[in-house]
Amino acid sequence: MTTRIVVLPGDGVGPEVTGAAVRTLVAVARRFGDAFCFDHRPIGGAALRAEGTPLPAGTLTACRDADAVLLGAVGDPAFDRHPARSRPESGLLELRRELRVFANLRPVRIWPSLQAASPLRADRVAGLDLLIVRELTGGLYFGEPRGQSADGQQAFNTMRYSSAEVERIADVAFREAAGRRGRVVSVDKANVLETSRLWRATVERVAARHPSIRLEHQYVDSCALALVLEPARFDVILTENLFGDILSDQAGGLTGSLGLLPSASLGDGPPLFEPVHGSAPSLAGRDIANPIGAILSAAMLLRYAVRAEAEARAIEEAVDATLARRCCTPDLAGPLRVTAASCSEVTAAIIGEIASSGK
Ligand code: NAD
Ligand code: IPM
Ligand code: MN
Repeated sequence: MTTRIVVLPGDGVGPEVTGAAVRTLVAVARRFGDAFCFDHRPIGGAALRAEGTPLPAGTLTACRDADAVLLGAVGDPAFDRHPARSRPESGLLELRRELRVFANLRPVRIWPSLQAASPLRADRVAGLDLLIVRELTGGLYFGEPRGQSADGQQAFNTMRYSSAEVERIADVAFREAAGRRGRVVSVDKANVLETSRLWRATVERVAARHPSIRLEHQYVDSCALALVLEPARFDVILTENLFGDILSDQAGGLTGSLGLLPSASLGDGPPLFEPVHGSAPSLAGRDIANPIGAILSAAMLLRYAVRAEAEARAIEEAVDATLARRCCTPDLAGPLRVTAASCSEVTAAIIGEIASSGK
């Protein structure tokens, strides 16, 4: 059966890193005999330029009909002063909402060969292997009312959660923890926010259904500190939309480069896979962006959308082998003090590993 993958390259480095991920999937298909078809569609700034809207109807329809969606990044400085609805980012937010992908999984780990690239001391990051489970379709990002007063002197957003929304994301976190080290840290601001108090009470109720999982609660400010002081102590971090956005960039920094981090967004409809990083405008078009976040997102696509675990592992092992040789783009090569490879060279090395490991 052919897996239909809609590819949304987007802006900045998006086309380069999704190109790398697609080439990697083609190499996987060649080795394992899977069949993938790719349908490229515009989103974000690219779609605003081509069609005057950040999420054209044709793109959304193709995504709804797909088995999986692979996205690069959206964001273009040319639109930074535009109103919300004509910004590239609103295309991605609308896509997440329309696909109802409420569960965003962002795994973070340290590769032994990259310890010297981390801004933290090796003894602090050793053993770092955590999963951020971020609620993706609620909270401040989508809460109503939102807007501006008529005189433009005030603006407001609403952080709103229902217990049903918290329950379903908590359930994902507990199930993920069961396949890992069995620990969930639920992150909130229950000392200040009503939404967080509802969050905490709901997570407690869900926890009662998962007696083998150890649950702790932590305030978000304290979690941000602990991520820097003792990141290896975390297994699963469960949190709401905005906190998860912020903590995942911070966690990305611990690994040496945000460019390494993949994600999967799961819900009721077609799942969405995208690196955690943005469009990195200063790197765009120079063949120097790190493709690994996008390539590992393709591995997550194989695991979660195709249930092709062997293929997903083949990609992850090829990335491990490539990084073990310290073949990497400038973001990592700089701190590691090795010669940098281009985005295409790193991708070719990963593809070479996939092809040769099957022999
Ligand atoms: P960014 O993630 O694009 O960049 C942050 C830092 O990480 C920069 O120093 C950048 O050079 C580096 N970086 C990012 N990706 C990299 C890669 N693949 N390889 C090497 N280095 C990499 O965040 P930003 O600069 O705050 O935002 C730029 C634009 O991207 C904005 O318009 C923002 O809205 C958008 N954005 C989009 C997404 C997404 O599409 N999911 C995520 C974050 C930001
Ligand atoms: C991310 C990004 C997005 C978010 C932006 C581009 C809307 O930062 O995926 O982390 O805030 O969710
Ligand atoms: Mn982000």
